[in-house]
Parts: sequence; structure tokens; C-alpha cells
Amino acid sequence: MKQTTDFLKMKEMDERIVMVTAYDFPSAKQAEQAGVDVILVGDSLGMVVLGYNSTVSVTLEDMIHHAKAVKRGAKDTFIVVDMPFLSYHLSIRDTLINAGRIIQETGAHAVKLEGADEVIEKIAALTKAGIPVCSHLGLTPQSVGVLGGYKVQGKDVQAAKKLIEDAKKCEAAGAFALVLECVPKQLAAEVAKSLSIPVIGIGAGMNVDGQVLVYHDILGYGVERVPKFVKQYHSVHPIMVESIEAYARDVRNKQFPEDKHSFTMKEQELKALYG
Ligand code: KIV
Ligand code: NA
Repeated sequence: MKQTTDFLKMKEMDERIVMVTAYDFPSAKQAEQAGVDVILVGDSLGMVVLGYNSTVSVTLEDMIHHAKAVKRGAKDTFIVVDMPFLSYHLSIRDTLINAGRIIQETGAHAVKLEGADEVIEKIAALTKAGIPVCSHLGLTPQSVGVLGGYKVQGKDVQAAKKLIEDAKKCEAAGAFALVLECVPKQLAAEVAKSLSIPVIGIGAGMNVDGQVLVYHDILGYGVERVPKFVKQYHSVHPIMVESIEAYARDVRNKQFPEDKHSFTMKEQELKALYG
């Protein structure tokens, strides 16, 4: 299993870091079998697994519940868990208690926090307490209400400058990696160059130190439309619906179950039963 220091080395060696989300036992098993470097239990689970229309509804209990299942499916992969909406904003004390629960109850290795500003002191406190922190800047979905939608971030000079400064502050506070979401590729490259910790991009172009995608987006599983920055490698959704349709057809046509799916009683026992 890779550790935080291995990710630093990978950046130095110009080896790309592969991160993918997983939310339950089977998706975690698949990610581990596929040999990814990091599994992210993203709060995107609120949307792709629980059917909410943003990540704001996701609770600490939801994250712990899903992270436990992921850990059972991927015992030998580095696991990062998103701290959900408002679970790292009230105070440093609350942040430590909540992150501590995630780490202790799930067996995950690190937490991810969106934003800089007031979050910087939380990153520092968690790191000092021994909990590795992955930062997340650019499009930060938990702030969708303030950002006014899911849009590309850092497009003008001022926003770009602030993003670079924020990224440096996250690194200085102790973050071991930074997820950068939906920013122009030139800006993402600049951020990656300015930091010694790895920058893991999503919608951030090629010139960063790793990539992350959402499991359901890669597979085309339960998602109708994928954003521009996604490469969809398959569309498993129709195959799954077709399989359930075929099962329904068989039941209605009395073609399932067949003999090979059924249990039988010995002649002798039947006789004894009915005389
Ligand atoms: O929740 C999530 O899946 C994420 C990734 C998109 C980075 O935060
Ligand atoms: Na997230």
C-alpha cells in the first residue's frame, strides 16, 4: 500500500497518481483489483449513490457508513474520506472530533477538506494531531450555493492569483496532496509547479501530478450525462437494465427458475412425506 510520502516521491519522479472514488464494498474491491493508488470516498456519494442534487445533504454518519464498507473491500489501498458539509467549520475542536471519528471508526488513512481561508487552521490542527489532510480547491462543490453553480474557477487574474496563494497556504499548513477541480489547464499546471505536494486534477488538464474521477462517471453507471472533463470508459447502465428486464421477462414467461436452479427432495423422502 502506498503512503503519503510515496505520493511525494511519485511527483518527484513524474509518475502520475491514480485516484478513483468508491462508495461501497464492490466498488472498492474493483478499484483495488484495478490497482489504483488512492481510493477517495467522496461526498459525491450524495449525488451518485444517494440521489441528492448536491453534496450539501451528506452527513458525517453517511460518510462513516460508506467508508467502512469501502475499507472492507479495499484493505490494501490508501483511502481518503471527504469531510462532509459543515463538519470542519464550527471550530478546531469539532473538526478534530469529526475527523477522528472518520479515521478511528472506518480505518481510512486521510481526510479531504474543501477550501482555504478559515479551513487553513483546521488543516494545520489535523496534521499536528496525526491525521493526513488532502486539500481540495478550485470548484469546491460544498460551496455551490455561494459559487452560484458548478462552473470553471480561476478564470480571471484575481481568482487565479488567489488560487495559487491558497494552494501554497494548504501546503504550508501540512496538506499532503491537493485535489484541484475544474480550473483552466494552464492555471492547474502553474499550481502543480508551485507546490512540492502532488496536485491531483479533475477537470484540470494533463499537467498536474495525478487524476481523479468519479466511479459512476468512468463506468457510465446510473449517470445520464457526464461533464466535459470526464472520460467515460464504458456504459454499464444499459447492460444492467437489460439484465433486470430479461429476468422480469423470464419470471413472467415462467422460464425462470429452471430445474438447475431448483432443489429436489429424494424419492424416498417424498414417499415418507405423502405416504
Ligand atoms: O466527492 C468527490 O467525488 C470529489 C472528487 C470529485 C474530487 O471530491
Ligand atoms: Na467531494
